[in-house]
Amino acid sequence: MAEAERWDQVYESEPHLYTPAPNALLVEVAGAMPPGRALEIGMGQGRNAVWLAERGWDVTGIEISRAGVERARTSGAGLRVVLAAAEEFAIGESQWDLIAGIYVHGVMLRESARIVAGLRPGGRLVIEGFHRDVMKLGIDGLTGGLLGYKTNALLRKYLELRVERYEEVVAMADWRRIEAPLVRMVARKE
Ligand SMILES: C[S@@+](CC[C@H](N)C(=O)[O-])C[C@H]1O[C@@H](n2cnc3c(N)ncnc32)[C@H](O)[C@@H]1O
Repeated sequence: MAEAERWDQVYESEPHLYTPAPNALLVEVAGAMPPGRALEIGMGQGRNAVWLAERGWDVTGIEISRAGVERARTSGAGLRVVLAAAEEFAIGESQWDLIAGIYVHGVMLRESARIVAGLRPGGRLVIEGFHRDVMKLGIDGLTGGLLGYKTNALLRKYLELRVERYEEVVAMADWRRIEAPLVRMVARKE
């Protein structure tokens, strides 16, 4: 089954896999910023993007799962929802006050140069996801054996940004809802 269809199945029939609440790191960071233009990469069913839109952000969410996109569209939150792979989306240059990648992993590494270019000066990047050590827990599911960031991988990819927060911790994960090795990064474009 293709990746998008596997995620469709998650959003249609496996809601127990994720918390419906928005990601706490994103809430903390965006909640302290004046609302501006935000891009969520791999927004899923929109739990984070909807929260941002409801707080006055002008939000675009990109997502490859049709079922995820449909749920985000029916939220009524006034998001701009794009059914596309992030790799095909024109992120642009100096367009975004906030870019978020929450539990999306590989794409945030592959697309780092375009993500940096897309941030406005003063704009922030917020990433949370599994650390690669999560593979030791045997929970690789939908990412073809490539789940999680290796130690310091995000720091190496985003050298042009000023890192405001970086941590590799064991904490409750939004996805799978288990204690797991996580990576969190908040970085700002100067
Ligand atoms: C674990 S879910 C996280 C969803 C959401 N960010 C959240 O925190 O609830 C990962 C999502 O990334 C999407 N995804 C994976 N690769 C993608 C890509 N290249 N472009 C856009 N979305 C992608 C998947 O379809 C899936 O919905």
